[in-house]
Amino acid sequence: MITKTIRIDPNSFLDKDLTEAAKLIREGKLVAFPTETVYGLGANALDGAACDSVFEAKMRPHDNPLIVHVLSPADFSLYAETENQPLLEELANRFMPGPLTVVLPKKKTIPDSVTVGLSTVALRCPSHPVARSLIRVSGCPIAAPSANLSGRPSPTAASHVIEDMSGRIPMILDGGEAEVGLESTVISLKGDEIHLLRPGFVTAEDLKQITDKVIISPAVLSALEQGVKPESPGMKYRHYAPKSPVTMVFGSEVNVLNFFCQKLSEGCGVLCFDEDVSVLKKLGFEENVISFGSRSDLLSQASGLFDALRKFDSVTVPHIYTRETTRNELGLAISNRLLRACAFNCIEV
Ligand code: TXA
Ligand code: MG
Repeated sequence: MITKTIRIDPNSFLDKDLTEAAKLIREGKLVAFPTETVYGLGANALDGAACDSVFEAKMRPHDNPLIVHVLSPADFSLYAETENQPLLEELANRFMPGPLTVVLPKKKTIPDSVTVGLSTVALRCPSHPVARSLIRVSGCPIAAPSANLSGRPSPTAASHVIEDMSGRIPMILDGGEAEVGLESTVISLKGDEIHLLRPGFVTAEDLKQITDKVIISPAVLSALEQGVKPESPGMKYRHYAPKSPVTMVFGSEVNVLNFFCQKLSEGCGVLCFDEDVSVLKKLGFEENVISFGSRSDLLSQASGLFDALRKFDSVTVPHIYTRETTRNELGLAISNRLLRACAFNCIEV
């Protein structure tokens, strides 16, 4: 299959620029498109066969459900039970459109291939103008996982989508770099409680402005015991992973940097902060050192992490070592992605 890439300037385009992409969606084909979080791999969410082909194109396990993207939270009630959800309206008013996904009891309008047979559906209103136009012009809700091959880092630029999906899908809309760089926050609602299933740009601290009862799923920061199912099926997989294994290194500043130097001299890779790159350079280590952002700037870490993980695929190292970031605010989402790239392998030095 030939994959056509169309460049769309998110700040200046017309709905008619998306006519061809929307036609493909309506015909049951797949189109990768930019969102404010990461690139998505879109299919008509009401077309079960189209959604099945998303799993094939991504080589995604068949037990990991897709997020359905709609224009407005007012559309949620077409696809999910929104009655008796006391927190939903406030969440919608405050965070939507934007990087927040809500898991709700599903209606029959959504085919089982989207939800892999679960009784719930995940719904999100993206804020990215190209994503919004694609939904509007297609005239249907769009089911979209991140547009990477399953297990690989999510794509934050069209070049990442091309790397993973070229020849597998008919079209990629290139809208430049994704602003946030990490996937949306996924929550479920249990009465007056918010359960945080996957941390993202909308943080636990943000959600606490709506209710004190924000419960962080244990799968966010630790490997689940064998046989325990996470509430969000995607959280059980090793994810965001470069081809070499990754280990997180804990310890004092001096010990971590000494350990990095030792491992670099053995030919391993180091994924660290900008500030570490400068220190390591002064100590004579430059090769195989890749930064994922500045220690003091969580936004730069969020937008740099997946690209940094992908960069390790173009260098040959037997092992990659990385270090922790804060777990506060946006740091929780970054820590979650880093720990999962490590498959939760950590060492103390
Ligand atoms: O930012 C995002 O959310 C991006 C863009 C494209 O919108 N999409 C995305 O999709 O990250 P994906 O498929 O890579 O991740 C969806 C996550 C998975 O962890 C999945 O298990 C969870 O959402 N999910 C989907 N439906 C669910 C459901 N009914 N119950 C619990 N978790 C669900
Ligand atoms: Mg994904």
